[in-house]
Amino acid sequence: MRRPAFLAEQARNARGPLGRFIAFVMARETWSDNLAAIEALAVQPTDHVLDIGCGHGRALGELARRAPRGRVAGADPSELMVEHAVQRNRDLVRAKLVDVAHASVETLRYDAAVFDKALCVHSVYFWRDLERAFAEIARVLKPGGRAAFVLRTAANKAAAAFPSEVYRFWSRLEVEQAMIRVGLSATMPNGVDERIRPILIVASKRK
Ligand SMILES: C[S@@+](CC[C@H](N)C(=O)[O-])C[C@H]1O[C@@H](n2cnc3c(N)ncnc32)[C@H](O)[C@@H]1O
Repeated sequence: MRRPAFLAEQARNARGPLGRFIAFVMARETWSDNLAAIEALAVQPTDHVLDIGCGHGRALGELARRAPRGRVAGADPSELMVEHAVQRNRDLVRAKLVDVAHASVETLRYDAAVFDKALCVHSVYFWRDLERAFAEIARVLKPGGRAAFVLRTAANKAAAAFPSEVYRFWSRLEVEQAMIRVGLSATMPNGVDERIRPILIVASKRK
């Protein structure tokens, strides 16, 4: 069944009471994909980790648990999601172990080469310019840093159910080639069938 555009729009830019409800549901729906990305990154206790399009911020708490002597940052362009993520992680934010920024992937307001790891789960559909976004991620990663992406590709059978005026499903080739053009090398550690499941891509920045 096709998802109504007003609901899809909330996934791209959550607002108002419906946005709060969507954030709550999303935190459950995407959890296993977030865990897969976190596992693929093998987060170390001192790692500095960035969650791009962090939404509700559920992954931020898990990352802080795995990197207690590092730094965890979330970035999201939805004011409501930032508020939600701060509220969910308020003790960690107060302790300065987590911070959440109002920012989109195209303009991450961090210095260059500050993160060891980054993740980005089900957010790529809303990016206007894949190459610019990956270039910005590559900029903030340290040499040898890694970023894990979970996304449905254009080949996914469920893609047709999402309104094309809100979601853009990229092909795997488009994603991998855009990564390569900005100096990231891509691997797919779990080799799932992209027609059925979201794929996991791990991108590495050269040392
Ligand atoms: C489907 S939600 C996924 C949230 C979370 N990563 C998860 O796995 O549940 C997509 C998120 O991407 C964010 N987003 C939309 N456009 C973005 C952009 N250009 N850059 C970064 N994040 C974006 C949305 O605000 C939303 O929080």
